[in-house]
Formats: sequence, structure tokens, C-alpha cells
Amino acid sequence: MTDLYAVMGNPINHSKSPTIHSKFAEQAKQDLVYSAMLVPTEGFEPAVKDFFKGHGRGLNITVPFKEKAYQLANSLTPRAQTAEAVNTLVLQEDGTIMGDNTDGAGLVRDLVMNQKVDIAGKKLLVIGAGGAVRGILQPFLEQAPESITIVNRTFEKAQLLANSFEEYGDIKAKGFDELTEPFDVIINGTSASLAGELPPLPDAVIAQHTCVYDMMYGKELTPFLQWAQQQGAEKVIDGLGMLVEQAAVSFEIWRGVKPNSIEVLQDLREHLLA
Ligand code: ATR
Repeated sequence: MTDLYAVMGNPINHSKSPTIHSKFAEQAKQDLVYSAMLVPTEGFEPAVKDFFKGHGRGLNITVPFKEKAYQLANSLTPRAQTAEAVNTLVLQEDGTIMGDNTDGAGLVRDLVMNQKVDIAGKKLLVIGAGGAVRGILQPFLEQAPESITIVNRTFEKAQLLANSFEEYGDIKAKGFDELTEPFDVIINGTSASLAGELPPLPDAVIAQHTCVYDMMYGKELTPFLQWAQQQGAEKVIDGLGMLVEQAAVSFEIWRGVKPNSIEVLQDLREHLLA
């Protein structure tokens, strides 16, 4: 019987995961079916249990269920443990469910491998202190940056986050008005652009060499990346590569084969966002 995979979320109709994983499967000649499943807000746990009772082998989990998946998993990888959120569930041979989080690894891969942006020894600025940011901090700290500074509209949340990761490296919280010097890499992990807003960053954080990354993506450059370009940043990158790379890491965990993510990323840029 064909192995089944799916992404569960609510809403789910705009998810690009079925397209991405179907292309991976085609490339790697894997016999599997990957679909999108809309799950009612209160129905997550039974939906997961039902899925794995059948021919389900693995799941991706998206908004708003990543914390629920973290609680539901029988075991967790260290990076899912620190992220306190799970985007990948894997059915184990003994019937238990393992939770992983591939978001941070996906972002690091996109930056380091695809975009050739070095993180080691660099000064990083991370904007935001929600679940998306929590998921990426440990994978970034593993790349040995000189420091990570977190800023957030609600300062206390940035402070709490910095405190909980301080054992892994030089990480601190600052207020927006304390930012007076340029950073090497800036990552926007807020959902501000969904509201058509920009985080209140001073111009001083951007120099010509600053690489600016937005976890969001769209047909056009996000407002945040447009702003960064206007401040003179030469390298601006949206989150489509992160989306494809987090999927590639999940796919490898499930199937043990590495898909050609660059080819899929190029394809998405040319067709899906056209
Ligand atoms: P996610 O899981 O996607 O990270 P979240 O936990 O709701 O979602 O976090 C959203 C992040 O975007 C937070 O850092 C939030 O700032 P607050 O902690 O102050 O709420 C940030 N954010 C959302 N809208 C914003 C806006 N208009 N301006 C600046 N920051 C914003």
C-alpha cells in the first residue's frame, strides 16, 4: 500500500506543502501520496490518531497546531524540545509518534547553503519573539554567530526568550531604540507584514553588507524587504527558500533521501508565485 503523508492546519487551502512534497517524491522516485488536511480547531488529536491508524507515515503540522503537536508527540528531538513546537510528526516502528521541528534547520540551510550567507562569527538581529522565532534560535546558535540580539514590540517577550536560550550562546534582548549599529544578518520573524506594518527599526541597523531575511514571502518583495533595500541593503531574501528547505528536511527524515530542493524552489518561484 502507498505510504500517506499530509499537512494538517487550519486554514490549509493556501498550503504549498502538497506541491513541494509531491515534487520531491517525483524527483526521488518515492511511492507516496501527500495531501492537505483541514482539521477543526478542537479536533487535532483524533485527526492525528486516525491518520496514523491507517497508512499514514508522517505529518507536517502548521498554524495553529504546532504546540498541540509538541504535546501530543511520544518523543521529541532536542530541537523540537527547545522550540517547544513541532512541525513534523513521524510514525516510529514501535507505533509511537516522534515530534521534530525542521523550521530552524530549513532557515539555516536556505541562508548558508542556498544563499551562501555565513553566520559563524556574525552579528545577528532577530525581530519578533513568537513561536516562529523560538523555533529558529537554537539552530542559529549552533552556527556560532558572534551574537544574537532579539527585539520585539513587547520587550518582555524578547527578554524571556533571550533568557531561555542563554546557555547556548551570546544572546540578548534589546529595545528598538537601543539599536545604534549595523548588523551582518537581520531576520524578520514577526507577523507585522500581515497587518501591512513594519517593525520600528532604526535605519542604523542596515549597512550595505547587511543581509536581510524575511520569513514571509509573496509575489512581490515584502514591505520589510523593500524598506531594507531602500536603506541600502544589497542582499534581501524572502522566506520561500525556508519553506522549501524545512520541507526537504522533513522529507529526508521520513524517506531517508535528500530531495533536490533548489530545483523545487526555482519551480515555485517561476510558477506558483507568478
Ligand atoms: P508566530 O508563532 O507566527 O511567531 P506569534 O506567536 O503570534 O506568531 O508572534 C508574532 C510576532 O510578531 C510577535 O513577536 C509579535 O510581537 P508581540 O510579541 O509584541 O505581539 C510580532 N508582531 C505582530 N504584529 C506586529 C506588528 N504590527 N508590529 C510589530 N511586531 C508585530
